[in-house]
Amino acid sequence: MIGDEKTLIVVQALYRCLQVRDPVTAAHSLHMAELTYRLAEEFDQSNAGLYFAGALTHDIGKMGMTDRILKGSGKLTSNDRIHLLNHVSDGYRLLNSLEMPQIILDIVSSKIPS
Ligand SMILES: [Fe+2]
Repeated sequence: MIGDEKTLIVVQALYRCLQVRDPVTAAHSLHMAELTYRLAEEFDQSNAGLYFAGALTHDIGKMGMTDRILKGSGKLTSNDRIHLLNHVSDGYRLLNSLEMPQIILDIVSSKIPS
């Protein structure tokens, strides 16, 4: 179980949006979520679902990136790299506005949950 019902519904909806926007990032996120869940079962089993949800949405900020940066294979400019790095704060702001649990916010903002 991923936290409460609202968290589950929001995470599922966001993940489905990511699948439509960029299937490659969605597949990467699912892979990371599965690995994170297995690790979480070892050190914080009661919150393993939240760790799964955090990993599943860790790249959600990439939905706002242009196709050229998100899906392109060319060399990135310095501005592109800044835009790319902003996906972390963009994802955090999105999930924070949806009042997601702190463990998810910590994972998305690349903090180590305490
Ligand atoms: Fe990632």
